[in-house]
Amino acid sequence: MAVKEIVADIRHLSGEVYYPSPEVLERAYIKDYPSLYQRAMQDLEAFWAERAEELEWFRKWDRVLDDSNKPFYKWFVGGKINICYNAVDRHMKTWRKNKVALYWEAENGERRVLSYYDLYREVNRFANVLKALGIRKGDRVTIYMPRIPELPIAMLACARIGAIHSVVFAGFSVEALHTRIEDSKSRLVITADGGYLNGRIVETKRTVDEAVRRSPSVEHVLVVRRTRHEVPMEPGRDYFYDELARLPFAQGECPVEETDAEDPLYILYTSGTTGAPKGQVHVHGGYAVYIYTTMKWVFDIKDEDIWWCTADPGWVTGHSYIVYAPLMLGATSVMYEGAPTYPYPDRWWSIVEKYGVTVLYTTPTAIRGLMRFGDEWPNRRHLSSLRLLGTVGEPINPEAWRWYYRVIGKGRCPIMDTWWMTETGGFMITPMPCVPLKPGSATLPFPGIRADVVDENGNPCPPGVEGYLVIQNPWPGMSRTLYGDPDRYVKTYWSKYPGWFFTGDSARRDEDGYFYIIGRVDDVLKVSGYRLGTAEIESALVAHPAVAEAAAIGLPHEVKGEGIHCYVILKAGYTPSEALAEELRQHVAQLIGPIARPEAIHFVDKLPKTRSGKIMRRVLRARALGLPEGDLSTLEE
Ligand code: PRX
Repeated sequence: MAVKEIVADIRHLSGEVYYPSPEVLERAYIKDYPSLYQRAMQDLEAFWAERAEELEWFRKWDRVLDDSNKPFYKWFVGGKINICYNAVDRHMKTWRKNKVALYWEAENGERRVLSYYDLYREVNRFANVLKALGIRKGDRVTIYMPRIPELPIAMLACARIGAIHSVVFAGFSVEALHTRIEDSKSRLVITADGGYLNGRIVETKRTVDEAVRRSPSVEHVLVVRRTRHEVPMEPGRDYFYDELARLPFAQGECPVEETDAEDPLYILYTSGTTGAPKGQVHVHGGYAVYIYTTMKWVFDIKDEDIWWCTADPGWVTGHSYIVYAPLMLGATSVMYEGAPTYPYPDRWWSIVEKYGVTVLYTTPTAIRGLMRFGDEWPNRRHLSSLRLLGTVGEPINPEAWRWYYRVIGKGRCPIMDTWWMTETGGFMITPMPCVPLKPGSATLPFPGIRADVVDENGNPCPPGVEGYLVIQNPWPGMSRTLYGDPDRYVKTYWSKYPGWFFTGDSARRDEDGYFYIIGRVDDVLKVSGYRLGTAEIESALVAHPAVAEAAAIGLPHEVKGEGIHCYVILKAGYTPSEALAEELRQHVAQLIGPIARPEAIHFVDKLPKTRSGKIMRRVLRARALGLPEGDLSTLEE
């Protein structure tokens, strides 16, 4: 496919355009996006094979892509590779052995520095402990931990022995954790005695205790000591990690499992349209190639860089771009446990200054949140080490983009607005430093990705017209299936337009072919960039004794992007009150997690439904926003 289909001419673009400076171009790995794109599309397999050569394989692949059983694509078939080996062991053979892999800092000022060699030792020790607890290749392990170095260490240790990790973000609570443990049938849960946020202890262990009470698959709970406050330990089931790590079996090297390229590396649950969260399955081989390549080219990572991705390792952003890709690239990363505003709103800027961060990758919500405190906080700090910025997770409004560009990047640092999803494994529509930018646009597809915005029938939408965002070819980082539910994988992603991946996002392209992501078209909310299903919130609400029926929708929120608004019908005998509304908000936060706390609860007598009984959230939204209600022909009387 000619690159003309993607973009007219990136040297002459319309609208508000930020062209790369000579310094940025000089440094960039990729200086000519259009020709690289064209080359990749001419021979996808040759392109990805060349990328895969940069990693270390125990055995090379026989075939790059096997598409004989669509949409269950296989990549690097016959290849043997282990992502932990590429992230850690590989560096033992070079000077990077003694390079800093991770600068870690906690809210209270505590610090740890791990070299690649330190990481190697820690991962081996952790893997030995996992083995001693009976964990073998293919076993599932749920990880529910605060943002401490043992979180990536535990992930890497699982990968090392071929166990499949399922990390659950520690901001989720009992119900969310329980369903994820159940679905994955984990044998082991790894947690910590607690974490810190805003000066308070987060009780991760207690949450695990409640969540595993009804999970018969769990044999052991491994507890990393972090806060050292008292937590209940169940004899025979629970072990403190440090106590096992001291024992003889934990010492020395733990052999790396020579995993197949298509062996599962992890399951990561995401919210979907209906109730149960979907377990996206990512693998060792293609995933490694994809995130390695995307990070290298988009953030132009070199040895002198200090990389800081502010996400939590518990989300896909953290899996791909805190844990695996930066380590495979041999980069030095920063990880911070705590709130961006603790104790003052310049905490992040002080971290950039202290470690000399060169590339900062964060979310629009964080930018909008910090922007509210004014320019003085960042202006008092040296931010001159920064050379590149990034954003992810939700659309960035041009105002926040310009603030980020001007106040944080001082007009020198291009912003990589990376559009992707848990399903895609890595960046899909994203600039590279050599690509001219437009505020609010994720710009153009990564080489090897054919994307478009299409109408109901699959025809490309003309410039400016909103349609569905689709990906029109397979890529190595794609999730391979939904854990235990391949039919749902086919139905959710590959059925609306056979042969194309349906993203669930709406978007438009401008006259230059640039992509602007608008938002989800399904019942998925993006609250502060976190992905939540309306169904999850609604089932939490109806679990409360006062609630008969509930509907949740997202409405625009100045900082969070979207805020959760709930419409609730009470059971007979309950009367609406401010106190009850507050109780319900608390209840949702307690069941799902603080991120799911509704903005508002509205008590109603009726909900708009279709004749078949489905709640019409679209109508609720339109009413709340004072917009036309659209087609009401299916609305029941
Ligand atoms: O709606 C899109 C939004 O986040 C969704 C995917 O969410 P999740 O699987 O949690 O992954 C988030 C981190 C990759 C997408 O369907 N989204 C993600 N990045 C962007 C975005 N929306 C606009 N611009 C982005 N850069």
